[in-house]
Amino acid sequence: MNALLEVENLSKQFGGLRAVQALSFEVREGTILGLIGPNGAGKTTVFNLLNGVFAPDEGQVRFRGADITGLAPFRVARHGLARTNQIVQPFANMTVLENCVVGACFGRENLPLARAREAAREAVTLVGLEDRLDALASQLTIAGKKRLELARALAARPTLLLLDEVLAGLNPVEIERMIGIIRTIRDSGISILMIEHLMQAIMSLSDRIVVLNSGAKLAEGLPAEVAADPMVIGAYLGDPGFVDKLRES
Ligand SMILES: Nc1ncnc2c1ncn2[C@@H]1O[C@H](COP(=O)(O)OP(=O)(O)OP(=O)(O)O)[C@@H](O)[C@H]1O
Ligand SMILES: [Mg+2]
Repeated sequence: MNALLEVENLSKQFGGLRAVQALSFEVREGTILGLIGPNGAGKTTVFNLLNGVFAPDEGQVRFRGADITGLAPFRVARHGLARTNQIVQPFANMTVLENCVVGACFGRENLPLARAREAAREAVTLVGLEDRLDALASQLTIAGKKRLELARALAARPTLLLLDEVLAGLNPVEIERMIGIIRTIRDSGISILMIEHLMQAIMSLSDRIVVLNSGAKLAEGLPAEVAADPMVIGAYLGDPGFVDKLRES
């Protein structure tokens, strides 16, 4: 399997805080890589470094062989890398369809409007929001906004999708539905890098897992290997609930 995304020695400091420290990992084509770690470990910052919200202080990001380090977000999107945001950011006064058309227009292909609308409709259908096409984003429930966030990213027809806690705030039924949608996306050939606190879900979805702690990689491996790693369990000792969840999964 080829590496789709190669991250090498990535570092980012905010003032005196080393948010990401010499981090290296890769996402292989057709797979789901899970990125986990305690609150404040640096997970979202990694996404911000990958899609150009921040430029790294050090390190390199290669995507499909191209060096995309420090490129502006709209350029990274053109390379075929799309993301969702941990805090949902729909255009509140635009409809579901319009939000996704924006995603499609700024995506991998330079789609004309009619084709962008088609890509947007497909994405909306994939996440199950087709009966809310004309609803304003502000009218959706949290679960609906999460699905819209995913649809907007999908409408960009990415090669790699970055998901930042798409299960957070959902009830068990909504979680099951979202897990099904993520599997469908992966089966359609889109590779996925996902951040998730919900251990059972991330352990069952991921092909491999990278564990971050204080900005640095603490462990990497198959879900079962990571769950059994004493270093990983130790890193979460401040959160006994987490250890229980890790063992259950
Ligand atoms: N723009 C910023 N300016 C200054 N500090 C920041 C900024 N963004 C993140 N940080 C800090 O960097 C650290 C890592 O934050 P980050 O949001 O990446 O963590 P996370 O692993 O995503 O956490 P969570 O699980 O709570 O979402 C935190 O200490 C955070 O306060
Ligand atoms: Mg985060």
